[in-house]
Amino acid sequence: MEDKRKRLEAMQAEALLGGGEKRIEAQHKKGKLTARERIHLLLDEGSFEEIGQLVTHRSTNFGLDKQKFYGDGVVTGYGTVNGRMVYVFAQDFTVFGGSLAEAHATKICRIMDLAMQNGAPVIGLNDSGGARIQEGVVSLGGYADIFYRNTLASGVIPQISAIMGPCAGGAVYSPAITDFIFMVENTSYMFVTGPNVVKTVTHEEVSSEELGGASAHSVKSGVTHFSSVNGVACIQEIKQLLSYIPQNCEEEAPRLAYEKGNETRPKLASIIPDNPNQPYDIREVIEEVIDADSFFEVHKNFAENIVVGFARLAGRSIGIVANQPAYLAGVLDIKSSQKAARFVRFCDCFNVPLLVFEDVPGFLPGTDQEWNAIITNGAKLLYAFCEATVPRVTVITRKAYGGAYDVMNSKHIGADMNYAWPSAEIAVMGAKGAAEIIFKKEIEEATDPAAKWAEKEKEYADLFANPYSAAERGYVDEVIRPEDTREKLIKAFKMLENKVANLPKKKHGNIPL
Ligand code: HXC
Repeated sequence: MEDKRKRLEAMQAEALLGGGEKRIEAQHKKGKLTARERIHLLLDEGSFEEIGQLVTHRSTNFGLDKQKFYGDGVVTGYGTVNGRMVYVFAQDFTVFGGSLAEAHATKICRIMDLAMQNGAPVIGLNDSGGARIQEGVVSLGGYADIFYRNTLASGVIPQISAIMGPCAGGAVYSPAITDFIFMVENTSYMFVTGPNVVKTVTHEEVSSEELGGASAHSVKSGVTHFSSVNGVACIQEIKQLLSYIPQNCEEEAPRLAYEKGNETRPKLASIIPDNPNQPYDIREVIEEVIDADSFFEVHKNFAENIVVGFARLAGRSIGIVANQPAYLAGVLDIKSSQKAARFVRFCDCFNVPLLVFEDVPGFLPGTDQEWNAIITNGAKLLYAFCEATVPRVTVITRKAYGGAYDVMNSKHIGADMNYAWPSAEIAVMGAKGAAEIIFKKEIEEATDPAAKWAEKEKEYADLFANPYSAAERGYVDEVIRPEDTREKLIKAFKMLENKVANLPKKKHGNIPL
């Protein structure tokens, strides 16, 4: 028995070393952690249970039969994060560059199947050279097996991807289907085709980092939701995200204890500038309304004209969508619509109530927007709100103009409660533009057209640059003092706690993609 036990211990020790000391050293030299170090940081101390540690590939191609590593380049298993179950896979770059082939893919699929059956999040820590070249088509099959599971799991369990090294070619499509992507600055990249192919095809000279690094994808493409300064920070941020979301679509996010105190927030009364054309930072409003230091912003550097993220209100997890007047006047455009739509859909999948702060002058005009389909993309946000059945509350802080008024969680598309501050302006368009159109003839014929225009502008503004026409019709449930906003919202979300809303029976809708 002693011999047999020793044999097991030797195999386990070998497995723990992945591709060996030298390759671990090379990994560290690149500023990267190993797969096991990452898992160790992610999970509660001593909670990791590994599955498939002794799995190896079965390929004999190109001398692979002489190159076998326990685990086949991916560490898989389960454990807890702050006491809550998660399933995890971490690609081991020290084994065949973390490349994916039959056995490697089967291990990931097993983890995903278990996560689905048991209703807990899957976290994938990606660091891979892509399809294992020696194994050929079985690698492609392995990827497709994962994509299929990613899709079936979407909306059932949260799926989180961290890109902590290379992620190229078709491999990018698994993270792309998952709910949130994290990237690590300077050590990770994602692209469908790398710099060499780009150079051949388009003659552009670009580095991997420029093409698909964390900065490119967090600012330009929006592919990644988070950009972390290093691997340790990335894992801490994943844990933070988990604290706001439930285990699966049947459950609610964890609640923190909350003791009622004085909920009046006087600072809210002085954030909006007197001049309606002056910007202010909507984050100041958010911070005042929510529980102290609870805002966890998503997609922070992408489409900054809309702010989205998780927060807590009276201890309860909520999703916030807010126009940002400090950036492009908070206008809705293609990217901000995509960003917000995806966030709204995540919150709705996973029972996270939605709070909307609205200050939007409308949709961004221009050929760039029209030719790149602001119509289809704006419709994504509209569709996402219309379909959301979670509790939904809107606060109109200032402008709510045109179609953007309807889109931004109006009562008409299913919002449960709609508040407005006295500074709200709810109208088809701004008073100046409106006066120019409807009083065109009168202005042209006036002896002093500028004075006439100003007079008509005032007339229109008096009627519509306020929340009262909307309140008369019940489009706004209550016009509230800004300082009372937190208290009103706590009560509204409490009132909506047991909301049940069902959509018409269908296979699935056809969101304008
Ligand atoms: C097999 C691979 C591999 C791969 C890397 N390795 N990628 N083995 N298949 N795809 C091995 C290397 O042979 C090496 O083995 C070890 O991993 C580390 O690789 P290095 O090149 O030394 O590391 P580095 O300099 O950091 O470069 C990393 C890299 C490079 C940029 C990822 O290895 C690379 O370009 N690899 C090929 C990438 C690729 O073309 N993949 C296929 C993409 S197509 P040793 O024994 O020396 O440690 C694809 C399609 C998916 O993925 C389709 C899904 C639908």
